[in-house]
Amino acid sequence: MNGVQLRAKLRLQASVAQVLETATVRSAGPLPTVVASELALCAPNIPPKPVLYLGRDLETQAIVSLITLKDKSAYIAILGAPGIGKTSVATAVLHAPDVVAAFGLHRFYVACDAVGGRGSSLNALCAHFGISEPNRGAAAKALCDILAEERCLLVLDNFESAWEAADNRADAEETLGLLVTVKSLSLVITMRGAERPQSVPWTRPLLPPHAPLHDDAAKQLFVAISDISEHNAHLAELLQLLDNVPLPLVLTANIAQYEPSEELTVTRKSLPM
Ligand SMILES: Nc1ncnc2c1ncn2[C@@H]1O[C@H](COP(=O)(O)OP(=O)(O)OP(=O)(O)O)[C@@H](O)[C@H]1O
Ligand SMILES: [Mg+2]
Repeated sequence: MNGVQLRAKLRLQASVAQVLETATVRSAGPLPTVVASELALCAPNIPPKPVLYLGRDLETQAIVSLITLKDKSAYIAILGAPGIGKTSVATAVLHAPDVVAAFGLHRFYVACDAVGGRGSSLNALCAHFGISEPNRGAAAKALCDILAEERCLLVLDNFESAWEAADNRADAEETLGLLVTVKSLSLVITMRGAERPQSVPWTRPLLPPHAPLHDDAAKQLFVAISDISEHNAHLAELLQLLDNVPLPLVLTANIAQYEPSEELTVTRKSLPM
């Protein structure tokens, strides 16, 4: 899809959403929910809303509040250790009703996992938006033109892949510097670690790197997936060994569907920390 086709698709989706909105008003139905869910369905290439999403309401709401401030672009970095839940938070933000209402179809999500090596983050973005200009300057302009059409939200997920390697860093910083020149654009990046790229005037207050889940949320998550009882004698110790970090919690809870919790605890203890 090229830039023109993408714009046409967005306009078509906007018309569909408009028709749905009008129809909902006429039928005096539950307007906000229906319209919000239709818009959520129509926004292109957005990952689905997390089904299980526990213990991150405050963090999610803090980001939603910053990016939905009227007439103001926001630049947010979601930081933290591997598997701590950064992508989940970004996805929840993309589907938050206030964000759907503010940005509608103009919510974009680009996974940057594949940008590593000598890849260029600008090329990855252009590929996402169907821009095939070989000239870097022309490609950058085409990208900015698409993003500047309407107020929009762009999520760059796992941006560390584009930024971490010394060879790529200048390119990644340049791409971010370009994006923040687009007046109507709000940017959310997720990155492993605690360091932010320098070419972005990050919105204040700066959000700290994500911490592990609170005990209650970790327990709820483990129990929901593993189906073991919250009164299980080994659960507390197992959760402690997993440090309340979502990824190991999810992986271990899946194994706990068929492995006895006692054996899991013993195995986990024998692993290097
Ligand atoms: N708040 C949460 N509630 C329930 N499950 C969660 C939560 N946060 C993360 N998870 C689950 O934990 C796993 C890892 O989450 P996620 O991919 O969001 O982490 P990440 O920090 O983006 O990881 P990476 O560093 O690899 O990019 C996923 O299976 C996700 O569904
Ligand atoms: Mg991630």
